[in-house]
Amino acid sequence: MATDQYVPVADRSELERDGQTVVSADGTAVALFHHQDTVYAVDNRCPHMGFPLAQGSVENGVLTCHWHHARFELAEGDTFDPWADDVQTFPVEIRDDTVYIDPNPEPNVPPATRWRNRLADGLQENLSLVMAKAVLGLDEADDGFQTPLETAVNFGTRYRAAGWGRGLTTVSYMADLFRTVGGRDRRRAMYTGVTAVADNCADEPPRFQQPAFENDRLPKARLKSWFRRNCEVRDADGAERCLLTAVDTLPPGEVTELLVTAATDHLYMNTSHTLDFINSALSTVEHLGWAEFAPQVLAATVPLLTDATRAEEQSAWRQPTDVAALCLDAHDRLPELVAAGAGATWTEPDGFVETLLSTDPAVIVEALCDAIAAGATRQELTDAVARAATRRVAYFDTGNEFNDWNTVHHTFVYANAAHELADRTDATELYRACFDGAMSVYLDRFLNSPRAPVPGPGDSTREPETIREDLLAAFDEQGAVDRAGRLVAEHFDADGDPTRLKRALGQGLLREDAGFHTNQHVGAAVRRFGAVSAAEERQLALVAGARYLAAHTPTRRESEQTFSIATRLHRGERLHEATDA
Ligand code: FES
Repeated sequence: MATDQYVPVADRSELERDGQTVVSADGTAVALFHHQDTVYAVDNRCPHMGFPLAQGSVENGVLTCHWHHARFELAEGDTFDPWADDVQTFPVEIRDDTVYIDPNPEPNVPPATRWRNRLADGLQENLSLVMAKAVLGLDEADDGFQTPLETAVNFGTRYRAAGWGRGLTTVSYMADLFRTVGGRDRRRAMYTGVTAVADNCADEPPRFQQPAFENDRLPKARLKSWFRRNCEVRDADGAERCLLTAVDTLPPGEVTELLVTAATDHLYMNTSHTLDFINSALSTVEHLGWAEFAPQVLAATVPLLTDATRAEEQSAWRQPTDVAALCLDAHDRLPELVAAGAGATWTEPDGFVETLLSTDPAVIVEALCDAIAAGATRQELTDAVARAATRRVAYFDTGNEFNDWNTVHHTFVYANAAHELADRTDATELYRACFDGAMSVYLDRFLNSPRAPVPGPGDSTREPETIREDLLAAFDEQGAVDRAGRLVAEHFDADGDPTRLKRALGQGLLREDAGFHTNQHVGAAVRRFGAVSAAEERQLALVAGARYLAAHTPTRRESEQTFSIATRLHRGERLHEATDA
């Protein structure tokens, strides 16, 4: 019995004669098929890329699209090919030889659930178009980054035995950048993050999380010493059980202390990545909620500690000057230095950052020791090292080998991570990151020889909007590194709104096939901007971000092509002028 929702759309006999046709019902183009004495109705737009399904073939209950040959079970629309998605079907009734359909059937699941499930499918199969469509669908539900971040973290922490890697770090950086950029770039940030997780997990074995210890009365000191010992001997399972017990029984600041301590028990571990990735994991837990996400997220960071390279084992840190020994000696002196500085207020000496950029590592280490003994806080000292590290990127000479961009980049993200961690823990061990970061700044010194000119105050009369357009044009050219830096400085001179400048940087980044380091660098530059208040430091942070980005653009922009296709499909635009019958 037909209800009021059903509308007449075709003559049944004519459909039987023709086999298939297209009708319009409530503004939707619907493909009708007469197949084996039954009438079927499906959305005429192929869910993959919109090809008219009425021009497809039906055989033995299977509808095949002619563009990329996705196949669908005709009655319910389920696809045989997960990259294509299921096609919407419509209930059919025949009355008096007339075909009626219900053009607005109740969805089987709410749209937000459907898109969340599709995002999980896309992550599982590493299907970028499926993930792009899911992100757009979720954005329509006005969910912000929450669901994409949750879904990607749930997937990434389970399906990569090696734990927290580049993918999850990228999605963490993108969750921050999401707040900076606007409109379409927010959706691109989500897409960039989730696709990075899928890519990083593709073909990887899964992870099996260890349980916490039953004993929930273990004191922090014991858990800390056990955790460090297990990390020291590279026992990942033992370390994970200690850490998960700490997560269950200690407040977040004390769990962070365990992680920071283990991450600085050796020097500059994993060439900066260990400290930066742990900071990203902690930032992600803050986004998603400690109680629900800390166990799985922090457990996934353990391989960053147990499998890490250690800078003291690398010849560059041992010869010709044994800077590793300088760091390790300073680490040993920390209790005495911190005790000396207790209650004191440090005033940063004039030229302190230039001292950190100097060519004598012993002088640098002594300057840091003196600062701690004079009461320099973790925030103050990590900030000073981050200022020095920022200059290594801002001053990077383009005559260097291209790969050396990553040398200064690693120092920059390490120093930034240490500074951000100072807000998450008051562990004495965080001072160790100041020495390690400063030695990395020292080791990078030849990459500023000569220093690239950093533009000083000028007298720009141009409109900030024009300068931002020029900046985006600079990212369209190969190697417009110094020009990009100058344009950022000019934007500050012109008193342009830095929020718009950061958005332009985000736009320049998100339209590219940016690699992990480029995503990380621009994200870190934007975060550095937010971490400092002095105009010079803010400008240098964005100069560093723009110069690094300009060195790595333009790319082929393949991912932007996929994202654009998904966007057009989402808007209902037609992608293909089908001609075959
Ligand atoms: S399979 Fe139908 S449009 Fe690609």
